[in-house]
Amino acid sequence: MANAQSSSSNSSSLIIDIGGSRLHEYLEGILRDRVMDPSLLASGRQCLFPSALLSSDEGIRIWQKVTRLPLYYASDDEKDTLALHGTAIAGLIQPGTVLIDIGCGDVRKVRPLLDKLELAKTPIHYFGLDLSRSYLEQGIASLSQRYEHIQCSGLWGTFDDCRTWIASGGLSNVVNPNSPKWFLSLGSILGNDSFDSAVSHLRKWAQVMTSPHDRIILGVDATSDPGKIYDSYNDHEGVLERFMRRGLEYSNEVLGREWYRPEDWRVSGVITCPDGDDDGQPLSCLVHKFVFRALKEVSCPDLGMSFPAGFEMDCWESFKFGPEGMKMQFDAAGLVELGKWNCFGSSVCKS
Ligand SMILES: C[S@@+](CC[C@H](N)C(=O)[O-])C[C@H]1O[C@@H](n2cnc3c(N)ncnc32)[C@H](O)[C@@H]1O
Repeated sequence: MANAQSSSSNSSSLIIDIGGSRLHEYLEGILRDRVMDPSLLASGRQCLFPSALLSSDEGIRIWQKVTRLPLYYASDDEKDTLALHGTAIAGLIQPGTVLIDIGCGDVRKVRPLLDKLELAKTPIHYFGLDLSRSYLEQGIASLSQRYEHIQCSGLWGTFDDCRTWIASGGLSNVVNPNSPKWFLSLGSILGNDSFDSAVSHLRKWAQVMTSPHDRIILGVDATSDPGKIYDSYNDHEGVLERFMRRGLEYSNEVLGREWYRPEDWRVSGVITCPDGDDDGQPLSCLVHKFVFRALKEVSCPDLGMSFPAGFEMDCWESFKFGPEGMKMQFDAAGLVELGKWNCFGSSVCKS
């Protein structure tokens, strides 16, 4: 957990559109910038397929299967960490706080913390932020039925939309402007990129933490056993591969052209350990990523796309920074680390 260094539409509607209705444009834009940009090939830069494409309605259904796979430890460990330390964390949250769960997903994970706040009768306003409207509709409705002391709303839009909405006074229109803001990043959303990128994402959130009472709490997986990590992302039934391929299919739908055909691409999980000199990485850590490899030349003239056989695109990189790496990220982002909690016998921690 950290704080910043020095430095509603009407509340009866459960979901606030802060930019979600422009989602198609957003997805098309990031595909153009990150996958279709012809200068990418020439530059030899890493091509990173955007993980936002993984959140189609069908993608979400597959993701829910992923989190229940026996060897996919990260979701359960993080939920257990919140169950184990929920009372301590909830005790730090003042009445009237606004909790913004960035990339809230199906809200299953945050429930142990909200349960402790409810038990303590601490009135707070929970906002789940996600680009998936169906996640928000199901998740916010279920939380609203469950709690009496916690008001629950959804923010439909992207991370950028949310920061813009806060900075332009959107949040102050729906809650008391003096409410402390707590940001929650569960599921290794933040802290989970190459060091410099991770710091740059954190810094953007630090900029909207304008009160000394504002906090950000990150769930990160610091596992250092490569076999355990590999097995968790490479299940025998191929559920994770299906999840990745669904992202590629969804990009066909967004772009309105079938540039991706399953038989043209191999999808495989890979573990790497970039050393201190790579990409501004000040210390090494294990990384799991999926690699999409073109098995033959792939081209889609309508979209101006052309990839030679053997071309590789990475997707869904998972950096396993430990406590030392997270402390360095906080320092570099202008945040002060105030505490951390571990799940007994696990490497998932919140800080
Ligand atoms: C790995 S899931 C984590 C979900 C949840 N926090 C958990 O730990 O179970 C990432 C979530 O972030 C959302 N997401 C991804 N990119 C986003 C973006 N740019 N803006 C808003 N939400 C995003 C996805 O829809 C998905 O629900």
